[in-house]
Amino acid sequence: MIDVAAEYVRDVEKIAPCPELALDVLSMAHAPDCSIPKLSEKIEQDPGLTANMLQMANSAYFGHMKKITSVKDIIVRMGVDAVKIISITSASVGLLRSPQAAYALGRGELWRHSFAVAILANIIARYAKARDTAAIYTAGLLHDMGKVILDRPLQLESYNRDENDGQADLLAVERSLLHTDHAEVGMALLEKWGLPEAVCVPVGLHHDRTPAQSKRLEAKIIYLANHLVHLTEYDAGSSGDFFFDVLAYESMKEELPEVPNFEKNMRLIIEEFVDKYRESAAVFNL
Ligand SMILES: [Fe+2]
Ligand SMILES: [Fe+2]
Repeated sequence: MIDVAAEYVRDVEKIAPCPELALDVLSMAHAPDCSIPKLSEKIEQDPGLTANMLQMANSAYFGHMKKITSVKDIIVRMGVDAVKIISITSASVGLLRSPQAAYALGRGELWRHSFAVAILANIIARYAKARDTAAIYTAGLLHDMGKVILDRPLQLESYNRDENDGQADLLAVERSLLHTDHAEVGMALLEKWGLPEAVCVPVGLHHDRTPAQSKRLEAKIIYLANHLVHLTEYDAGSSGDFFFDVLAYESMKEELPEVPNFEKNMRLIIEEFVDKYRESAAVFNL
């Protein structure tokens, strides 16, 4: 199985061109000895990335009163973790924004979903007192990267996803047509990019249904956040509000992994998620 996934990511540059710089930023931010001056120097090489970061740093998401005007400013005033989160987010937009026709995802849809999972996973991780929340955030952001790789191969098999297909069916289709799935391919890709295990493993397991309790905390959180985001609907029409489908949650609760401090704080967690997501919407034109 893993070999098939490796085959798909072998020529990945042709399928999903990853800007060299975004890749450098991603792996630099996750290196244990991450040098902030070097990281900011790298980011400043790309005016688009710098502009994105400044916009995000000045957004309500981070709630700063005084205007932040440089990447160094972000580091000094907001700290290393905020810098990691902002640089990872900005670097990922370009990777995830394109439409994925085989998955019935229009332009920006995969990005919006991924960003939502990242924000929610990060909040759940904080409540669970997980150690590496930045890795969990990145895993949330990139958990469906495999779809970017498998979109074309699926289209070549003339597969077009019906909106009504369930998540589980999707994996079965991928496996039967391509002998791998987007979780496995996503993990192979991130490993190839040199991202740490704490990012790659949760991506590889984000649809894995085997006994959840034996999984590491990061993987449980990504699995949970991905499912919860699917239960949160955005009313783009009149109200512009979010609705969390509590009944659907109750009915699938048994299948979801147990994450420390989640259930008893669920209402607070979902509220914070909705606020953060809404505040970020302006920054990335969600
Ligand atoms: Fe997925
Ligand atoms: Fe997903």
